[in-house]
Amino acid sequence: MKIAMIGTGYVGLVSGVCFSDFGHSVVCVDKDQRKIDMLERGEVPIYEPGLDVLMAKNVEAGRLEFTLDLNAAIDGADAVFIAVGTPTRRGDGHADLTYVMAAAEEIAKAAKEYVVIVTKSTVPVGTNRKVRDVVAAANPDLDFDVASNPEFLREGAAIDDFMKPDRVIVGVETDRAATVMSDIYRPLYLRDFPIVTTDLESAEMIKYAANAFLATKITFINEIAALCEKVGADVKQVSKGMGMDNRIGNKFLHAGPGYGGSCFPKDTKALARIGQDHASPMYITEAVIAVNEDIKRRMIEKLQDLCDGSFNGKTIAVLGVTFKPNTDDMRDAPSLTIVPALVGGGAKVRVCDPQGQHEGEALLPGVQWQEDPYEAVKDADLLVLLTEWNEFRALDLAQIAGSMAHPSMADLRNIYNADVVRDAGFVAYESVGRIGYS
Ligand SMILES: NC(=O)c1ccc[n+]([C@@H]2O[C@H](COP(=O)([O-])OP(=O)(O)OC[C@H]3O[C@@H](n4cnc5c(N)ncnc54)[C@H](O)[C@@H]3O)[C@@H](O)[C@H]2O)c1
Repeated sequence: MKIAMIGTGYVGLVSGVCFSDFGHSVVCVDKDQRKIDMLERGEVPIYEPGLDVLMAKNVEAGRLEFTLDLNAAIDGADAVFIAVGTPTRRGDGHADLTYVMAAAEEIAKAAKEYVVIVTKSTVPVGTNRKVRDVVAAANPDLDFDVASNPEFLREGAAIDDFMKPDRVIVGVETDRAATVMSDIYRPLYLRDFPIVTTDLESAEMIKYAANAFLATKITFINEIAALCEKVGADVKQVSKGMGMDNRIGNKFLHAGPGYGGSCFPKDTKALARIGQDHASPMYITEAVIAVNEDIKRRMIEKLQDLCDGSFNGKTIAVLGVTFKPNTDDMRDAPSLTIVPALVGGGAKVRVCDPQGQHEGEALLPGVQWQEDPYEAVKDADLLVLLTEWNEFRALDLAQIAGSMAHPSMADLRNIYNADVVRDAGFVAYESVGRIGYS
């Protein structure tokens, strides 16, 4: 199959590389000259484990190319995937469809023969029909179908998620489009990964419902964690006990500083807006959004308590600022709320993150970046563990406590425990949903 991928961000690039690895011929398009230049030099613009090797292999095999020229990419393509951003629209919480619709129009003007236009971006219910209308208006003679193919990959594990998905969702209106989509995903089908074919609206809804459900699960355990702190329970034990129930499952039950990232915050907001627009309020999702904001505020209060009520004049070392480990993505990371509160409160903040500095420098003004966690904590009054990178899971705590001015720790990912930290020499320790000491 010949595939054009419009947008080479986290989703477009991973999807394009993986499709080429299936054996398809893929051309990835982006408007961003810097990205295309990097890709043509064999450099990967994002941090995603394993992507560089897989990309090089498929470029070498002649199955994968990058271009700024959408016209050339579409020429002869069986399917064109739209994988551009759908950020929150300023002011109202809706998904901003500007990039999707612009891409649809460009595709329409460039296409000459039958093609399936597949939306991989996360888009509100009804968008694929709008894409169809936009394409038909821009090129009335074009023979085409639309398809909805939402993506479920997780940054940091994106290749594995794409290659071994729990399921692939394909929303179509015609058998012809269904056949093209099943030809594209045949390599997975042969390996027994289920492909679920639905109508367009259901496919669009599955993506929002799945993300809102996962955000709800995280937020639920975060709220339980707050109560655990009040009643003297340990949320890690509670999560374990809950998660062993097969009906619940143990994933997305880790208490922390609130969800962030490129999807959950914007997708929960968009679903809430879709509900309001259709007079069918998404009360649970609306509560999740509000509780998640509250959790981030609660984390700041926790840090303030560890600093005797004021950040002013304190030196604080923050380990991890990306929204989760194994990505350089900073979009809506909890650090973007927490770190500015520290800086704004008068603290001297040192930040260490294995991949976050490139993105984070512009987003976190006023902090000092450190490559080595042991340098970051020297003479500090507080260590904040904010993202659970492997690099921070087995720190020499005694060395750290010995080098800090006031050895205290806020472990917002529950990596360590009070006994271990106390033995290492810390005078104060707080985590999430567990009793600490000070
Ligand atoms: N990031 C994730 O983990 C993830 C997971 C599942 C679904 N999604 C969804 O996938 C979509 C893309 O997300 P992302 O994180 O990859 O976005 P991104 O911002 O990383 O990448 C989007 C890319 O599209 C390019 N682009 C925009 N308009 C273009 C056009 N007309 N022609 C060519 N290129 C164009 C941009 O330059 C950018 O490189 C979103 O709808 C998102 O919700 C993301």
